[in-house]
Order: sequence, then structure tokens, then C-alpha cells
Amino acid sequence: MDNIIQDIDILDRNNQEVTDTVMTSKEENTGKKKKLYIESYGCQMNFADSEIVSSIMKDNGYDTTSEFEQADVIFLNTCSIREKAEQTVRKRLTDFNKIKKRKPELTIGVLGCMAERLKDKLLEEEKLVDLVVGPDAYRDLPNLVGSAEEGLKVINTLLSREETYADISPVRLNSNGINAFISIMRGCDNMCSFCVVPFTRGRERSRDPHSIVREAQELFDQGYREVTLLGQNVDSYKWSPEENNKAWLEKKEKQGEAEALVNFANLIEMVAKVSPDLRVRFSTSHPKDITNKVLHTMKKYENICKYIHLPAQSGNSRVLELMNRTYTREWYINRVDAIREILGDECGISSDMIAGFCSETEEEHQDTLTLMDYVKFDFSYMFFYSERPGTLAAKKHEDDIPLAVKKRRLQEIIDKQRNYSFERNKLDLNKVHKVLVEGTSKRSEEHLSGRNTANKVVIFPKKNFKKGDYVNVFVDDCTTATLLGNSVD
Ligand code: SAH
Ligand code: SF4
Ligand code: F3S
Repeated sequence: MDNIIQDIDILDRNNQEVTDTVMTSKEENTGKKKKLYIESYGCQMNFADSEIVSSIMKDNGYDTTSEFEQADVIFLNTCSIREKAEQTVRKRLTDFNKIKKRKPELTIGVLGCMAERLKDKLLEEEKLVDLVVGPDAYRDLPNLVGSAEEGLKVINTLLSREETYADISPVRLNSNGINAFISIMRGCDNMCSFCVVPFTRGRERSRDPHSIVREAQELFDQGYREVTLLGQNVDSYKWSPEENNKAWLEKKEKQGEAEALVNFANLIEMVAKVSPDLRVRFSTSHPKDITNKVLHTMKKYENICKYIHLPAQSGNSRVLELMNRTYTREWYINRVDAIREILGDECGISSDMIAGFCSETEEEHQDTLTLMDYVKFDFSYMFFYSERPGTLAAKKHEDDIPLAVKKRRLQEIIDKQRNYSFERNKLDLNKVHKVLVEGTSKRSEEHLSGRNTANKVVIFPKKNFKKGDYVNVFVDDCTTATLLGNSVD
């Protein structure tokens, strides 16, 4: 997903190694008796879930705090996507050991994907943990915390086929007041062979579109100017008026009544209509599902941002088949050609890449590099393969590429991406870009920072502009990560 994950072995948009990005709760004092500290790892969906968790806890007597030392309850919302992501959380738990010793009444909970994957093993292995709660069981949290406060070890990792938390208004935890995330679906049915998500997040289900539009409208009314619609595979979003019933949907589709459904193209149109001043982004698009209808809808609405995160994973068809991605190199190239044809060269395209998947040969790795030459991605999130227990790949294929080889291939992918990021940014020079201001630049108080439609960061002198303004900026300089310029308004 648009930066869906940030952990140690990935690269950020600057194409430099980043240390873990963690989202922590902010200080909020609405006079509640108790304090919750919540720290979130992994993807934006996890971050969005933490906002739902905070809302549920707020209704049950907890304000959030930004200082874990002040908390009565600490939650870690965890990620299992790669081994390193799990190691980071294990290490973090040891930090909490010290305060738990000082403050034995403190409740510590592990939520999210690691909770779902490891279940009661986590309680056995991490003695200080009091509760383990999977991503579909957050409504049960107040009840579980109550039991934990009585000294019990508690666990709920039931997955659901229906839960979308549609009726819960998230408490915006880490927001600049301009951009917000809206989860539009949960789970994933794709079973890519390397991926743990279908096991940790359960079956795919879509959220009622009316509740999505309502949330977007409320955000706009509060001053937000950009929403990002989140799902592991947004293009398979599907909702029927008659409950979200898959069997019913399939029957209707067979009868040729697909119009009775709300699909992803319909949904982005509905959200785009909230206001022309509300930008709409989405993530992640799966190459097998992205339709021309979606691309044409993007073209029709200026406020739907021209940027698509379209993870390729590999440029070789045999490897893609082993990965169970269900498309070939040619199919991927066809989708990129369609994007370029319908939306033009201005549309940003980014990817995720995995280096050194099981049995990948040097030639097959070269195919990934030549795919990058063909597409010239604006940026990519790049990883080396990390075997995850229980996945199809772990069961069927040997993790046989030596770590040094994986790392070398990854470095080749990174080096190539860096060149193309710079090249793509150079194409943006000497043009005017419409920028939504998100805040002051990290490097200088005198400069503002925002993004253009293609998701590129643009920095320019502040003058009298402020957060939330749309500003036309003439870009005359760039780095691999950023565009620089001056306002022309
Ligand atoms: N739903 C998104 C991806 C979610 S996971 C999609 O289908 O594109 C985000 C990224 O993590 C993936 O795109 C993949 O590149 C990477 N990833 C997932 N499992 C991995 C593993 N076992 N080892 C290395 N990288 C992995
Ligand atoms: Fe994982 Fe594939 Fe689902 Fe993405 S589409 S979450 S990579 S199984
Ligand atoms: Fe997200 Fe990590 Fe779970 S990427 S869905 S938090 S395994």
C-alpha cells in the first residue's frame, strides 16, 4: 500500500534505509479516568485500526497518552509481514518489562497481526503480556481489559467474515488535520504464496459504501482535504445492497446484474463527489484486478489523485506464478500501458519488489530489473524475501537463496530505483504543480511541504500560505526524493 509498510529492511521514498516507523498515540485530555498508550507497526491499515481501537477505548473511559510511562494500558498493534517486523516488536516488549516491574497493575496487550498469527504462544513466550487480541476482535477489548485488570491472561483471536467496524468513528491519532485514512475493506483472499496477511487478517470483506462516503464527508467538514482509501486489494472492493453477501453477489454477477453492485470504480466516484476540494487517494491496487473503468473514473475527476501503487513483486512470469500472483510479466506491462494511455505520463506509478524469492535465478532477477527499465517507477518499496511460517511458500518451496545473494539482488534493485526516481523527478521540472499543503517543511520553518497529484513531495517558500491550501508551484529543482520550487499564485 502507499507506504504500506515501513520497517527496517525497507526503503522510504528517499530510497534510503529507514529505521522503523512507528505511530504512537497522541496526548488527549477529555477528562477520562484512565490512560491508553498505543504504538502501531506495519501498514496503514494497522494505523487505521489503532484509531478504531482508540475510539472503542475512549467510549470505555480511556484517553490516549503519548507517554507510555503515564499509561494504565499499553497496546502494541503489531505486524508479521517479515521476520524483522516481529523482532522489532519483541525487542520493544523488553522496554516495557522495566515499567511493568515498577507498576505491576499496568496492562500490556499485543494486538494486530502478530497476535493473530501466534495466538496463545505469545502469552507463553512473552510473560509480561496480559492480553492478545486479533484484528477482528477489537470490540471485545474493554471486556478483555477488564478481565486482565483482575489478573487474568486473556485472548481473543477470532476472525470474522463480517466485521468492518463501519459504525465506529476513528479517533485520529497522528493526524495533521489534512490527510486521513479510511479503511474500505478488510482481509485478503489472494493467497500470494509469500504472504502472511490472509492468515492474520482473514477473509476479504468490503465496507458499506454509504458509511465510507459519510466518513469522507465528516472529514471534509472538519477541514481535512485528502482521504486515502485503504485495502489490501482495493480493486476487488465489492458491495451489494443486500447485505455483503458473497454468494448473492456471485449469483447476481452470473445473471449479468453486476450493476446492482458497488464496485471500486463506483466507490471512488462516490467519494470524489463529496467535494472537488477533497483529494481522493487509494492503496493498494492489485495488478490482476485494476480495470480500465477505474482508470477512466480517475481521469474524469480531477480530485482523484493520479497515482497508483501497483506492486509488481517480480518481473519474471515463472517467479510470479510461484508467488501465486496470478498475472504474468506481460499482463503487468499491459496494465502499465493502459495507465499511460488513459492517464498519461503524469500519473505516478510505484511498486513493491521482493528480491531472492525461492528458486529465483540470476536471469529471473534480471527480468525484475528490466521490468523496472520498462516502467520507470516513481518509487518502490523493496524487500528481500523473508519466509513466513504457515504460508504456501513456506510449505511448498525451499527458501534456498543465500542471504548474501538476496541482499546483493536487493541492492541492485535499489540502485536502479534510485536512478529512475531521479529521472522521473527531472521530468517534473519547469512545470506548474498543484500542491496540497500538509505543513511546514521538516528542514526549514520558512518552507511549506505538500504533495502533487502524483504523490511527490513538493517544497516551496511559505509566503502567506498555510496548511490545507492548494497552491500552484513552479518546480525548478529536484532531488531523488523531492521537488523544489516557488508558488506562482
Ligand atoms: N496487498 C499488497 C501488499 C501487502 S504486503 C499487495 O498485494 O500488493 C506489502 C509488501 O510486503 C508486499 O507487496 C511485498 O512486496 C512485501 N512482502 C510481503 N510478504 C513478504 C515476505 N514474506 N518477504 C518479503 N517481503 C514481503
Ligand atoms: Fe498479501 Fe497478496 Fe493479499 Fe497483498 S494481495 S495482502 S501480497 S496475499
Ligand atoms: Fe499490515 Fe503487517 Fe498485518 S503489513 S496487514 S500489519 S502483517
